[in-house]
Amino acid sequence: MKISSGTTPFGGRVLVVVVAVSVLVWSSFCSAAFNVSYDKRSLIINGERKLLISASIHYPRSVPEMWPGLIKTAKEAGINTIESYVFWNGHEPYPGYYYFGERYDLVKFVKYVQDAGMYMILRIGPFVAAEWNFGGVPVWLHYVPGTVFRTNDTPYEFHMKRFTTLIVNMMKKEKLFASQGGPIVLSQVENEYGGYEPAYGQGGKRYAQWAASMAVNTSTGVPWIMCNQYDTPIDIITTCNSFYCDNFNNLFPVAQPKIWTENWPGWFKGFGGPEPHRPPEDIAFSVARFFQKNGSVQNYYMFHGGTNFDRTSGGPFMATSYDYQAPIDEYGIPRLPKWGHLKDLHETIRLCEPILLYGEPVNIQLGPNAEADVFTDDSGGCCAFLSNVDNKTDTTVTFRQLSYHLPAWSVSILPDCRTVIFNTAKITAQSSVVEMLPQNLQPSDKNSKALQWEVFVEKAGMWGVPDLIKFGFKDQLNTTKDTSDYLWYTTSIFVNEDERFLRNRIQPVLFVESKGHAGHIFVNGELQGSPVGSGFPAAYNFSKPIDLKAGRNDIALLSMTVGLQSAGNYYEWVGAGITGVSIQGFNNGTVNLSDYTWTYKIGLEGENLGIYRLDGLYNVNWFLPPEVPKNQPLTWYKAIMDAPPGDDPVGMDMLHMGKGRAWLNGQGIGRYWPIASSLYGCVKECDYRGTFFPNKCPMNCGEPTQRWYHIPRSWFKPTGNVLVIFEEKGGDPSKINFGVRKTTALCATVSEDYPSNIQNYLRKDASVSHKNSTTVRLKCPENALISGIKFASFGNPTGTCGAYYKGDCHDPSSISVVEKVCLNKNDCAVELTEKHFTMSLCPNITKKLSVEAVCN
Ligand SMILES: *[C@@H]1O[C@H](CO)[C@@H](O)[C@H](O)[C@H]1NC(C)=O
Ligand SMILES: *[C@@H]1O[C@H](CO)[C@@H](O)[C@H](O)[C@H]1NC(C)=O
Ligand SMILES: *[C@@H]1O[C@H](CO)[C@@H](O)[C@H](O)[C@H]1NC(C)=O
Ligand SMILES: *[C@@H]1O[C@H](CO)[C@@H](O)[C@H](O)[C@H]1NC(C)=O
Ligand SMILES: *[C@@H]1O[C@H](CO)[C@@H](O)[C@H](O)[C@H]1NC(C)=O
Ligand SMILES: *[C@@H]1O[C@H](CO)[C@@H](O)[C@H](O)[C@H]1NC(C)=O
Ligand SMILES: *[C@@H]1O[C@H](CO)[C@@H](O)[C@H](O)[C@H]1NC(C)=O
Ligand SMILES: *[C@@H]1O[C@H](CO)[C@@H](O)[C@H](O)[C@H]1NC(C)=O
Ligand SMILES: *[C@@H]1O[C@H](CO)[C@@H](O)[C@H](O)[C@H]1NC(C)=O
Repeated sequence: MKISSGTTPFGGRVLVVVVAVSVLVWSSFCSAAFNVSYDKRSLIINGERKLLISASIHYPRSVPEMWPGLIKTAKEAGINTIESYVFWNGHEPYPGYYYFGERYDLVKFVKYVQDAGMYMILRIGPFVAAEWNFGGVPVWLHYVPGTVFRTNDTPYEFHMKRFTTLIVNMMKKEKLFASQGGPIVLSQVENEYGGYEPAYGQGGKRYAQWAASMAVNTSTGVPWIMCNQYDTPIDIITTCNSFYCDNFNNLFPVAQPKIWTENWPGWFKGFGGPEPHRPPEDIAFSVARFFQKNGSVQNYYMFHGGTNFDRTSGGPFMATSYDYQAPIDEYGIPRLPKWGHLKDLHETIRLCEPILLYGEPVNIQLGPNAEADVFTDDSGGCCAFLSNVDNKTDTTVTFRQLSYHLPAWSVSILPDCRTVIFNTAKITAQSSVVEMLPQNLQPSDKNSKALQWEVFVEKAGMWGVPDLIKFGFKDQLNTTKDTSDYLWYTTSIFVNEDERFLRNRIQPVLFVESKGHAGHIFVNGELQGSPVGSGFPAAYNFSKPIDLKAGRNDIALLSMTVGLQSAGNYYEWVGAGITGVSIQGFNNGTVNLSDYTWTYKIGLEGENLGIYRLDGLYNVNWFLPPEVPKNQPLTWYKAIMDAPPGDDPVGMDMLHMGKGRAWLNGQGIGRYWPIASSLYGCVKECDYRGTFFPNKCPMNCGEPTQRWYHIPRSWFKPTGNVLVIFEEKGGDPSKINFGVRKTTALCATVSEDYPSNIQNYLRKDASVSHKNSTTVRLKCPENALISGIKFASFGNPTGTCGAYYKGDCHDPSSISVVEKVCLNKNDCAVELTEKHFTMSLCPNITKKLSVEAVCN
């Protein structure tokens, strides 16, 4: 690694850590150029029908150093396509000024996908929603006179076309469309517009038609799609976004394939909210049902959610983590068993791919809620999906003279129309315990024992030259144009000596009204409270008795946005900021400060001086106090430290801080805010059966929405890392810690009645016993071996990974059998057969084998 300097798009020079990269040589896996066509069954690429199982990975939500690993981890799960939006406001920070560096290096990302031998779906938008600041549209565009977003509006269409064309031309120049031998097989224009279009009347209708025509006119040689759009022309494919798309029919079912652009395997979370949770059994069910019902392109949104670094999160209140409970977690580690269960599903579907795409389906009703869809082809191939969509009741069906047990809300896949090798409700994939292991921050200065936190404290209120002085209130977004989260509104009130409250104990009451999103209220430099808005658009009222003195009193309101709206009708007009201030309890009644003179200052002094950037650090005099100040508002903290040892992913523990922003070596880690979610509404266990919805299975109630903040490894150098924190309301920086993310336990449970797995099914020596036996499979991360078996029980063990317990039925040889097969191997498979276990044990229960292993 070396340090070099670079220029940010925002004008300042920063030092950036650059990982030494040799000249990248892009292999060209699919150099054949072919236009992508389609019919009602599938996309046709290079003359062949293709089944796309796709994974959304948004390039700016991780760092280029992580991209190859994320793409590889997706591919290992049986994914053959990567999907991403294009993030306009990251690429065009000023009109006509473009940025494609670092996390925004779109070409590099697409080439990594190409290198991995995968396809790409490029959702250009350029409106994207995506829980991304302002839905991805640059805020400056809102201030181009006469602009209304997402309707038949000249400036909007001009800028949208200019950016879309720029991206298309950039891809063409690099030969990245499949028609040029590149990986891009589909592009998307606009995003989920159908639901909003009616609110824009005829303008909306014209705009949708215009967008489609504008896109098609770019002649990419690959089809364009529009998702959740209901009036597209025939040359655009309409696609489905939902938790389920088996019943989706696109506008032109006789001419277009069935495409699912967003299957949500989890959900986003907002500061103050719980952790959403979608069970793997239900995700697998939805996917299997989609392919059962003629689907041919399915994308997980998200497969890796990643991180809303810096100020990129949408709002109000989107958390910095965009983990999404995706199959690959925020830190890049497979989330088990979700990742593995979907991998098993994908591999099973792949076995059927040729039959599915070239065969003809027949539907057979097997019961009130059970049915088979059977695909057969000319060469005698046969693949069947048997489903039971009843949300409570298991059933047993007869199919081709054999009897099959179908758990409620599940699909069994039979790649030979006989052998069940996958059932969506039966997880045989391994699970794991992943933990953040605390690492104390180590000072880089070896002469100091403890970390030295230097501080710079901002004054409450005005600093420098006012940005605006006016009577009353101006909208916050109209004032800051989103150059900062923060806007100071300040004024003063003169209190006469004869005010009665100066002598009696009845304090006057300050009342503040705001459109949102949150604020810190200061009177004479003292923090009075930190109101937070709720609902949409996150308005709040604040009222509190305050101390005033005779003479001049300063009222300073730090109002802030916490991510701008990312969707909604006319969302760009919502605005934010203070709308009213008054004080009750004067001799003359209530004084309404709303028409006083207010002085506005955009942003913080430290922000303005760039003291979080490596080249701006010394623009203020930092002070090294004998002890680091705690619970002090408006304080910048700076410390210099070593990287945590090893190469595991790193998170920063902000549990004991209030609210603010953080940077490492000038890179924006994001907003931090360990605000807790409500105590109520969570579930202990999630019943996967039945229709899923975002708050069906929330977890983590009463805990901070986000305690840990991802800092990419590549942002660290071994020593001399500068961590800068801006704390708004008060916290304890001495408790800030790093954690490294490690898998501390690996487990698997398989029951006797589970289907045989794909490996057994595919065995060449396939004896009947192998075909029908179930197997526990364990696999450590690359370069690690199974170093111990912490638990193994064949019988009726209970519990979950990390906490299994033996039941009253237990085969005493369990541990030694598993040790013999697994120890010192990277992966192993233990079959539930007579060879290993006493299969006749406790004959009247269905036995299972649970194993917990340690990898080192
Ligand atoms: C696309 O091209 C057609 C044919 O040249 C033209 O009529 C149409 O106006 C174009 N659409 C847009 C949005 O420019
Ligand atoms: C591929 O598509 C482009 C753009 O629509 C078109 O100009 C070209 O003729 C097509 N090529 C083939 C081989 O069909
Ligand atoms: C699937 O395709 C077949 C053959 O075209 C058709 O008969 C059947 O109705 C389709 N099923 C669904 C759910 O679209
Ligand atoms: C009411 O009292 C406040 C506080 O003493 C003073 O600033 C204000 O000028 C008074 N307003 C009127 C209309 O007298
Ligand atoms: C704030 O108070 C005003 C006036 O009392 C009221 O109209 C408004 O609905 C309140 N807003 C919120 C968010 O409570
Ligand atoms: C921002 O300013 C524009 C132009 O003056 C105005 O039309 C708009 O309503 C303002 N927005 C808000 C949220 O107040
Ligand atoms: C203060 O004055 C503003 C306009 O000048 C008005 O909208 C608001 O309702 C008043 N607030 C109170 C508490 O009287
Ligand atoms: C189960 O299905 C029934 C009948 O379709 C429906 O009324 C009920 O709401 C469903 N329950 C769940 C939990 O999905
Ligand atoms: C197992 O089955 C036997 C005989 O059928 C019965 O006596 C015994 O109670 C059963 N045990 C359990 C735990 O159900």
